[in-house]
Amino acid sequence: MLSQEFINEVKERNDITDVISGYVTLKRSGRNSKGLCPFHSEKTPSFTVYSDTSSFYCFGCQAGGDVIHFISKIENLDYVEAVKFLANRAGLAIPEQGKNDGLTHMRLRIREQNREAGRFFYRSLYSPAGRQALAYFHSRGLTDETIRRFGLGWSPDGWDMLVRHLSQLGYKRDEILSADLGYASRKGGLIDRFRNRVMFPIIDLQGNVVAFGGRKFTEDVVGGKYVNTSDTLIYKKTNNLFAMNIAKNSKSRELILCEGYMDVIALHQAGFSNAVAALGTAVTPQQARVLHKYANSVILSQDGDEAGQKSIARSIPIMKAEGLDVRVLAITGAKDPDEFIRKYGPERFKMLLDGCSNDIEYSITRIGMKYDISTDDGRLHYLREVCEYLSGLGTLEQEIYAARVADRLHIEKSAVLSQAQASARRKIKSEKEKEFREMAKNTAGIGSKINPERSSNLLASNAEYALLAMLFTHQDLIPKAAKQLPPEQFVTDFGRRIYTGFIGINDSGQEVTVSLLAMQFSEPETAEIVRIINSEYSNGTNDFKPLIEIIKNEHFTPKPQDAAKLSSDELLQQMSRLKKKKS
Ligand code: CTP
Ligand code: MN
Repeated sequence: MLSQEFINEVKERNDITDVISGYVTLKRSGRNSKGLCPFHSEKTPSFTVYSDTSSFYCFGCQAGGDVIHFISKIENLDYVEAVKFLANRAGLAIPEQGKNDGLTHMRLRIREQNREAGRFFYRSLYSPAGRQALAYFHSRGLTDETIRRFGLGWSPDGWDMLVRHLSQLGYKRDEILSADLGYASRKGGLIDRFRNRVMFPIIDLQGNVVAFGGRKFTEDVVGGKYVNTSDTLIYKKTNNLFAMNIAKNSKSRELILCEGYMDVIALHQAGFSNAVAALGTAVTPQQARVLHKYANSVILSQDGDEAGQKSIARSIPIMKAEGLDVRVLAITGAKDPDEFIRKYGPERFKMLLDGCSNDIEYSITRIGMKYDISTDDGRLHYLREVCEYLSGLGTLEQEIYAARVADRLHIEKSAVLSQAQASARRKIKSEKEKEFREMAKNTAGIGSKINPERSSNLLASNAEYALLAMLFTHQDLIPKAAKQLPPEQFVTDFGRRIYTGFIGINDSGQEVTVSLLAMQFSEPETAEIVRIINSEYSNGTNDFKPLIEIIKNEHFTPKPQDAAKLSSDELLQQMSRLKKKKS
């Protein structure tokens, strides 16, 4: 175990705003900073970093905690490893420990098994039994050199070929399960996760095999086209890019992002060593961050089908938000890059790359495809949608592209521009309204699973939260509050548990921190506590008497009120009453 003093020192030496800036583009707003949440996909920032309380909270996905929680979540590490990660970052020596703790050891065992499995699959591919699988790779145009470079393989046809091999090497049942290389049968034995499939290892930036994809290559195999390793202690699908371990060494500051394993491998074989894949889905903010580490610009090279186009549409804003230049490749005459190269050769693909349009041209063209502009109705709808799109761009870009749209429709550029501006105003208005509704919902605690008593005790719980926020910032007041208001008199159970936690930690002579609270509360509860201690109440005075009065009042004369039935007007009235009482 790491000592509490060490953990505190690590936190002190890692300013939360500083650390998070390495992952999220933050904009200052007052004492706090805001940015796009790295844990869910969003267009307007609801991720907030509070420097006063050294914590973060996302109003969109309710993630929250201190700097250690942030690192643990974004780097997919457990708590102790996150502390070590931050210690390294700050150049602090980690105190000696007796032996590896359990999870770190398990990670090591998973890494070793994956390496073993990779070798096993490669060997099997070149064994007599692997003839058919090898022929499949060759039939898709892959050379033995490429197969070796990517460490491709074949998972033998059987129930427990790899599982038995791993057991012989001394790997235990729970270790094999943790690596997701086997799963438990109904009878309790272990079955190979991958059976009779061609195998693609996924390798992380440090060169470790972290996961596999297995493709069906004969109709005899049951199951879907691909079987993939689920998330494990060392692998998080949404953080990884296939072939990034190779592409990161390419000289180009531009990466080609494809959909599938086969596209990437075919491109590399054809000399495009800057190709990677996000493996089937739209790019996540974490993947965009990795891309940005090695490149300034990305060429989206998705399949031509509907799924591919949808994934492009979702990926563009995420990559732009990360600050990457985006271009979109329009592949014609083939369904994906792999097929294109096989049909037309690398030179033609190079031409395609050089001529590919930027994301704005692409988006406008795509909108154009949806309407028939030879009809008035089509022109009207086209104009409306294009203007809505233009309204999200910068002024210079609006000027340029408004001119093109105007040309196409044979109308004045100024007409397009004024439409776009009207659309921008509408957007801002509806975003403001949405924000307000969200806030009102939060304040009312409607649907609050974490504090189910809140909605029917709104006044009391608002006062409880205000008191807790105040005590967190003025911890010297905790003993005094405890004397005047015993925890039993709290109205909601959740509020009482936090209050009791404060008092307990304070009694033991320590400072109340998010980390210490996190030991007594679940992850979503901790996040809610972060929201509470950073809520607007905390900016108020340090006179807690009126708050205590409200809580006592509500405790002794409960008047249940259903917040779900309150209109937002009543809600606002109640909020302002509470604020007045405070001042
Ligand atoms: N994928 C998956 N599971 C599926 C289908 C697809 O995980 N059932 C992921 C794989 O990472 C795959 C990518 O989505 O590589 C693209 O899918 P697709 O185009 O169908 O496969 P390809 O790898 O391109 O294979 P092929 O060219 O042989 O069809
Ligand atoms: Mn494909």
